[in-house]
Amino acid sequence: MDRILITGALGQLGSALQKVFYDKGVFVIATDIRDCPKDIECQYEKLDALCQDDLLNIVKKYEINVIYHLVAILSAKGEKNPFRSWKINMETFQNIIDVSIKCKIKKIFWPSSIAVFGKGSNLKYVPQNTFMDPTTVYGVSKLAGEKLINYYFDKYKLDIRSIRFPGIISMGIKPGGGVTDYIIEMLHASKKGEDYTCFLDKDKRLPMVYMEDAISAIISIMSVERSKLSISSSYNILGFTTTPEEFQLAIKSNGFNIAVNYKADYRQKIANTWPENLDDNLAKKDWGWSPKFGLDETIKVALSLQ
Ligand code: SER
Repeated sequence: MDRILITGALGQLGSALQKVFYDKGVFVIATDIRDCPKDIECQYEKLDALCQDDLLNIVKKYEINVIYHLVAILSAKGEKNPFRSWKINMETFQNIIDVSIKCKIKKIFWPSSIAVFGKGSNLKYVPQNTFMDPTTVYGVSKLAGEKLINYYFDKYKLDIRSIRFPGIISMGIKPGGGVTDYIIEMLHASKKGEDYTCFLDKDKRLPMVYMEDAISAIISIMSVERSKLSISSSYNILGFTTTPEEFQLAIKSNGFNIAVNYKADYRQKIANTWPENLDDNLAKKDWGWSPKFGLDETIKVALSLQ
């Protein structure tokens, strides 16, 4: 029986994931650095994942055997304070690894990102294995994390599974500080009938995935037998690709009105070093990745949510 701990459980991905486990009746402890929110249903512990002793105590107290480590400072926000971002992204991951080895944790999930790529990665269509030259401290930390996964699997047989997420689209908790956030901001503006100023150029193509597909990817990769995973780093996945202008037009064709002004800022420079499209065939082959939400399905479901 899985006894799950989630760190960063109040973030965009964590808040959706803990709900899925709770609704399924799986034992799950949500943790985050903030005080316990009033509306959370599953058990909650306030935890600063930089404090290894506190992490160890929670893992022991609840006899945790599976960890989803979702703490991270995202790409754009990370650039404001690179030293702090490195510390939060890497030291928390090292703490998870250390505690996992001590407590014989059987499986860990850790998200990587399309931010690991760079201009040398063949950005028109990024292969699973390619040259990686990230330009943000977030991307550098994710690439380092991918190398650590491989290292600790080789040396300690520690089973860490990972996906390189594109922009994740959801209408619940906002991501806060990512380059792909424009798409969520655009959806919220169109629901409210407000104009939107987009911080990327209208023709900047990026890969995206809808939250429901992101969650099913995590569940799939965590459920498959380890022997099916042909790599011990991180898998590319893709829902669909879009540009801000294409997305704006698709919103309009679904009956919502939105006026968008385009005013690119420093995030455009980061986006220029990220993939336009990518090859996710290895994820399909190894653990059955099969996205259900394309551009139109995503817009329809996102705009119908309350
Ligand atoms: N969505 C993330 C970001 O924009 C990428 O992993 O930072």
